[in-house]
Amino acid sequence: MSLEDVLEWVPERSVEGELVRQIDFDRLPAHVAVIMDGNGRWAAQRYLPRAEGHRAGIDAVRDSTELAARLGVKVLTLYAFSVENWKRPAAEVSLLMSLLKRYLRLEIETLMRHDIRFQMIGRDDELSPDVRVELNAAVSRTANNAGMRFNIAFNYSGRAEIVEAARRAIAAGILPEELDENRFGALLHTAGQPDPDLLIRTSGEMRVSNFLLWQIAYSEIWVTDTLWPDFRARHLLEAIVDYQKRDRRYGGIKPQPVVVGR
Ligand code: FPP
Repeated sequence: MSLEDVLEWVPERSVEGELVRQIDFDRLPAHVAVIMDGNGRWAAQRYLPRAEGHRAGIDAVRDSTELAARLGVKVLTLYAFSVENWKRPAAEVSLLMSLLKRYLRLEIETLMRHDIRFQMIGRDDELSPDVRVELNAAVSRTANNAGMRFNIAFNYSGRAEIVEAARRAIAAGILPEELDENRFGALLHTAGQPDPDLLIRTSGEMRVSNFLLWQIAYSEIWVTDTLWPDFRARHLLEAIVDYQKRDRRYGGIKPQPVVVGR
């Protein structure tokens, strides 16, 4: 989780190496959240079925996860399936479910090797038992890992998450005057995790698409035209370099330099 960890992984004298040297490791985004978009267009550009775009998207997931862990990002959240995605053709939904299961089975050793703790955020009760088995296995296998937290948002809706948290607050008997932002945040799937500092969206779309609506209140947004299956370490590094140039004010003002000698 350092410059060396990344340099040993990227090709020598590469663009990635140049970019990683520009990163200030003391100011890494603690939480990076990604809206992975453009799989369908990637496939269409190649006259391939949409399924091939989703399959190719797995390579981008693998690359981004390993880079984020090597950098020392504390939390990575990837948006893989929204509650709205059930509206897609049954065959596409079924493929996305299979890809998730396959990914978890094939990548679990990589997650273990990098000390990554996996968690699913979203409504798991609406998923089929075979998908839940695979998710639960990955969660329990990685439960004692102390490195990066890796959230896959699956069957996720930001609005539903907020409504469910409100219901939980009521069910727990929390009185209105006792409820504040910290307490409410602790009722969300991301309880105990920092809010995303950096929100990345691929494929050039300028939308938040019902993703982490509470948590992205002050996230810096970085949008790239790159389609998700083409997203690689280089793009994540570019996003972080750009993020580190931003002036984050959280609604305040930038302290002005003191002018002397007037
Ligand atoms: C958006 O592209 C992408 C998705 C809805 C699914 C993302 C899924 C993957 C990257 C593969 C599975 C991931 C895991 C972690 C198992 P789109 O289909 O909306 O693309 P389009 O806007 O170009 O049509």
